[in-house]
Amino acid sequence: MRQHVNPLSKHFDEIEVIPPLNEIFRNPILPLHLDVGSASGDFLFELALENNNWNYLGVEIREKLVKNAKSRILDREIENLYFAFGSANNLFNDCRFKTILSSLKSISFYFPDPWFKKKHHKRRVIQPDLINTLSIFMQKGALIFLKTDVKELFEYMNFTVSSNLNFQKLDKKFMKYSESFNPNEIKTSREKYVIKSQMNTFEEIYIKI
Ligand SMILES: C[S@@+](CC[C@H](N)C(=O)[O-])C[C@H]1O[C@@H](n2cnc3c(N)ncnc32)[C@H](O)[C@@H]1O
Repeated sequence: MRQHVNPLSKHFDEIEVIPPLNEIFRNPILPLHLDVGSASGDFLFELALENNNWNYLGVEIREKLVKNAKSRILDREIENLYFAFGSANNLFNDCRFKTILSSLKSISFYFPDPWFKKKHHKRRVIQPDLINTLSIFMQKGALIFLKTDVKELFEYMNFTVSSNLNFQKLDKKFMKYSESFNPNEIKTSREKYVIKSQMNTFEEIYIKI
């Protein structure tokens, strides 16, 4: 399967319309976490099965992965998990997505595609506009989780989020993982690989103030 798709391609102009939260989750009032670039969804499946006191939403640009994940949800009758196909950058700009953004307790950008070449930086999912949209719609106290194994990308993501004055770095000693979307600190597929390969992981958490 192709690993990288160009999120700026016309193909992604059309976006999936996500039904209202009360149609996609059994209990829509549970805290909601959004994982951007959810790939096959394994990470969110583990989370949803372990934590039935949270709802989880994955957004992924590779359509086939989303189709497979959706059918796995139906097979396993999981009622606190949903996947949407599309580029996060386009979805977040859609007025119908704003209700979801304002319902979020947290959002993760875990190991996003690095797009190393300078001329391709505009393909990176974290862009000032996207962070600005989050800063407008996310509630005070909502969290952004960033992780990557690429130092240069980490510096770029950190700079982009911290340049928005509505987000502040959260000192990890104040982070109560047990109350977060990931109380057991489950790792994503990429993170498992990074740990196994003894590579570095860079991470930061931001809070909307
Ligand atoms: C390197 S993979 C990491 C997957 C997973 N988060 C992990 O940590 O294992 C990055 C994922 O982000 C997806 N992706 C890239 N750009 C995206 C975008 N603009 N919107 C949604 N997903 C995107 C890719 O298709 C890929 O599945």
